[in-house]
Amino acid sequence: MDHFCYKDGRLLCEAVPVEDIVRHVGTPTYIYSKATLLTHYERIAQAFSPLNPIICYSIKSCGNLEILRSLRQQGSGFDVVSGGELFRALRAGADAGKIVFAGVGKSDQEINEALEAGIGLFNIESEEEFWNLDRLAAAKRVHARCALRVNPDVASAGTHAKTLTGKKETKFGVDIDRAGEFYRQARRANNARLCGLHLHIGSPIKTVDPYVSAITKALALIDQLGAEGIVIDTLDIGGGFAAFYEGNEAPPAATYAQAIVPLLAGRGLNIILEPGRSIACNAGILVTRVQYTKAGGSKRFIIVDAAMNDLIRPTLYESYHFIWPTNPGAHGVPANRLSTLRTPEDVKVDVVGPVCESGDYLAKERHLPVLKRGDLLAVFSAGAYGFAMSSQYNARPRAAEVLVDGSGWHIIRRRETYEDLIAGES
Ligand code: LLP
Repeated sequence: MDHFCYKDGRLLCEAVPVEDIVRHVGTPTYIYSKATLLTHYERIAQAFSPLNPIICYSIKSCGNLEILRSLRQQGSGFDVVSGGELFRALRAGADAGKIVFAGVGKSDQEINEALEAGIGLFNIESEEEFWNLDRLAAAKRVHARCALRVNPDVASAGTHAKTLTGKKETKFGVDIDRAGEFYRQARRANNARLCGLHLHIGSPIKTVDPYVSAITKALALIDQLGAEGIVIDTLDIGGGFAAFYEGNEAPPAATYAQAIVPLLAGRGLNIILEPGRSIACNAGILVTRVQYTKAGGSKRFIIVDAAMNDLIRPTLYESYHFIWPTNPGAHGVPANRLSTLRTPEDVKVDVVGPVCESGDYLAKERHLPVLKRGDLLAVFSAGAYGFAMSSQYNARPRAAEVLVDGSGWHIIRRRETYEDLIAGES
């Protein structure tokens, strides 16, 4: 699952004790394991290799330049959703031909930047966007390859309402029953070529069935269009593969591939995947220090120095992140990362941050060993949508990021300073 494990009662990231990093860098800090990152990438690449796909890592999940460089060196392309993410991808040395650009509200400036970079594929989300792109490409005398994001109207059990995208009633893409007509009309375009179909049905999708349903619907449309002489040569199946929060809930990449590869093999389509969470999630932890402990009514609180501005997922999605001390001692090593984990002397606590909102918590009603001021806690499975969604709310400088590679480590983003908080203000 990952390269974070306890040895002699203390947590290591690969070969490096987490406490050693914290001694130099302080808290809160995101610590990533390069081996975990690349292993998860490779598992997807291997599993889908019969389709020879382009894997476009979804930058929004964890976009640090060094993370992107590591994946680019492994052969990854990138899924971007803004001019800023395109900038990151290019700075990380991305092959522009392996960049796909999604998003319902691409601005003219962002489209122009992507045209200038010569990206591989625009994932189009509406008729107006398509014709706007055609106009902008014509002004630059360039051609743009496009895929239509089709909303296949499939449901996915277990995906949080805020991250479900495959149903008709979301803002994403174009309803599948309207898509055929879209492709027909798009033939009139001169500079934008609609030659692909894009799906992204939500995140995380913990079973393969929604993919099978969505891809089956997409292939039927592609065949129908083919019969009319409209050639679709690219199918982008999006992201959404699950990751491990509790332990073993995510199907391996091979399980997704077993169901998906046979549907697509031998069709001559260029296949694109856009995984984010399944690569980055288990590669990162957030380390935080206990500031104070206190009781409030019948509750006990562990107040830590990380907050909702550092990791908003528990607040926003009621998501579960396993939390455990980094130095529990030889007898305190956790047996698993399940939400049901109990130990003989544990205490039920809320782990909360310093932000002035009662919604500021990392865990509620959690059984943890007895903790005291100064203890370090690791918040696991925080690599995806962790730092990437962090903010400076309450004027809290954003956390540092560290990348571990074997027995070495380095800071890949320094902790922000108070000056960073006001940089750009006048
Ligand atoms: N492609 C598109 C078009 C997407 O919108 C997304 C994620 C991905 C790929 C990558 O999905 P992944 O493989 O990471 O599941 N903040 C939420 C997740 C939001 C996902 C948004 N789109 C969370 O923390 O759970």
